[in-house]
Amino acid sequence: MSKRYYITTPIYYVNGVPHCGTATTTLLADATKRYRALRGDNPYFLTGTDENARKVTEAAEKAGVEPRTFVDQVSQKFVETWKFLKCDYDVFFRTTEERHTRVVQEVFRRLKASGDVYLGTYEGWYSVADETFFRDTDVDAATQTAKETGAKVERVQEETYFFRLSAYGDRLKRHIEASPDFLIPETRRNEVLGFIDQGLRDIAITQNRSGWGIPVPGEEGRKVIYVWFDALINYLSESGWPGEGWDRLWPADVHLMGKEIYTRFHATLWPAMLMALDLPLPRHVVGHGWWLVRDPETNSLVKGSKSGVPLPLPEEVVALLQEKSGASEYICIDAFRYYCLRDIAFQSDAEFSLNVLVSRFNADLANTLGNVLNRVLRAKYHPGHVPAPRSHDEGLKASAERAVAAYEAALERFDWGAALTAAFAHLDEVNRYLADRAPWTLAKNGDDAGVADVVYNALEATRLAAVLLAPAMPFVATEIGRQLGVADLCPEGGWADATRYGGLVPGTPTGEAAPLFPRIDPKTIQAAPAPSAPAVPKKEKQPNVSTNGGETAAPAAEASINDQITIDDFAKVQFRVADILAAEKIEGAKKLLKLQIRVGEGEERQIVSGIADAYTPEDLVGRQIVVVYNLKPAKLRGVESQGMLLAATDAEGRAILLQPDKPVTAGSQVR
Ligand code: MSP
Repeated sequence: MSKRYYITTPIYYVNGVPHCGTATTTLLADATKRYRALRGDNPYFLTGTDENARKVTEAAEKAGVEPRTFVDQVSQKFVETWKFLKCDYDVFFRTTEERHTRVVQEVFRRLKASGDVYLGTYEGWYSVADETFFRDTDVDAATQTAKETGAKVERVQEETYFFRLSAYGDRLKRHIEASPDFLIPETRRNEVLGFIDQGLRDIAITQNRSGWGIPVPGEEGRKVIYVWFDALINYLSESGWPGEGWDRLWPADVHLMGKEIYTRFHATLWPAMLMALDLPLPRHVVGHGWWLVRDPETNSLVKGSKSGVPLPLPEEVVALLQEKSGASEYICIDAFRYYCLRDIAFQSDAEFSLNVLVSRFNADLANTLGNVLNRVLRAKYHPGHVPAPRSHDEGLKASAERAVAAYEAALERFDWGAALTAAFAHLDEVNRYLADRAPWTLAKNGDDAGVADVVYNALEATRLAAVLLAPAMPFVATEIGRQLGVADLCPEGGWADATRYGGLVPGTPTGEAAPLFPRIDPKTIQAAPAPSAPAVPKKEKQPNVSTNGGETAAPAAEASINDQITIDDFAKVQFRVADILAAEKIEGAKKLLKLQIRVGEGEERQIVSGIADAYTPEDLVGRQIVVVYNLKPAKLRGVESQGMLLAATDAEGRAILLQPDKPVTAGSQVR
């Protein structure tokens, strides 16, 4: 049997239920599986849950149930949500399964025997929230938090086993340099090379405790395997390694994930572990950006997460779409799938916004796609079967070929946003073609041959678009296929035929036409209540789904150039250089700092800014910053803010202040 195309998502922690972030990665994997199936690659899709983490026991304790009961309940919730979203995985992997324990212990034994695992003493910091070890320089000693993530850390000193990660830096670097498609996207590849250049340290891989977790062989009851070391092995365990036939699945073709578990874990530790085991490395490791949500405390965009500002639940977003559009649940699930795949950012981050979702629903699905369907399938001149054309339209054929080529190229890099953009560019062409040829006029003039040409070509071009949309919107594609009279739009392995222009067979009866996407009135979304907080674990905060942006707002993904402003718009904003005179924390608001600033000769002001996770008050006094001078004052956490400062955001979402290149007088204008 030939090797299967092996796709994985991260196995998710069970300290919270699935949200739109975890759903997006799972959808990326699902769409990739469906695409690979159409291409005949015999795909295999793994998802699952990471259940041995310390934070799981803490979450269970909080919920007042036994860890075993807790992990069973929450992992079931993941199963249900993925089923709801039509994610067609092949295995739901749980790290508490016996077969996984055996493989992890085997890996440990082998690496200990080869000297890649050795006993030593770890002294440093550990964050339970991140399940990560940090060194002194990674930690803000005053607040005992990790600089990278802001999570609480605790001091640990213990006898532990280490993995000799330091031995693999050079080999890893050579592999990355020799395999340009190994780490995707490019920006993250560069980040990993930089990370390796700083020097890789050996990493502690056991923790001294008994109970929950995988026992270290020979140290049962005293030590358990560090959860990341255990979790990464899941991808290999599924293959049945070291038993017969593991190479029918391994190496993975693609590991998909969010960027926070990319550099440190999937792009360095995991490949190094595989090198130490003398096993082949995954073909592609892909890290996408985050969905951001607005933090009500600071009004800034932050990563949506289980423990911070929550993202909404997929079921709630779908229910909202259903309520507002009146479309069926299946249609709304596909619309949700489309939004997540189309707008998740790869290089940077994007805001999760109901308004953008609704504008995608209205503009892309109801208008672009819906118009094409209306104009060909529901038109009076449509004969009820596929008509015989005199010729294939060269323009539409070229448009389809361009779309297929761009789509395939995008998916070599797992970029679903670019792939779907290509499919919709083709649908735009079909709309333009229909407007140009005006089959309604041809029909009025009795030009039957002309009508047959246009209807055939428009139906065929639509069929092709539906093939491209099928992995993202399986229900919608099947429904379009039914309306076109095509029983199986793209049979498994039939990609080349299905994407060749001219596949529709004249004479085939078409199905009954029905509109798929009723438009949503965006005004009803503005007033919609925010979806409620996830049930597990209990959280005080309400999820924060932005409705900013209005109906026609360009999606927040990547840097959008569609939202251009004029020079007059820009001229309305006055920027000035300011001196920071004093800075202090604001009680009860852990991210905010109150600054006294000088914005001109004898002109002092107070501003409030959400930069406390990146700067201490002492860091700030005496610095120069750039502020918006003519911003209407607002209150943040009850404290008046007369303006705002400008800051960039680093890869971890923390603020980096902008300041003039050379000191200038406070109050100087910035142009
Ligand atoms: N258990 C580890 C993974 C081990 S894999 C061997 C873990 N679990 S997690 O529950 O925290 O899931 C993290 C993943 O969820 C991210 O890498 C990403 O795939 C997804 N997302 C979580 N929050 C997200 C956003 N705000 N935006 C986009 N994706 C998000 O880490």
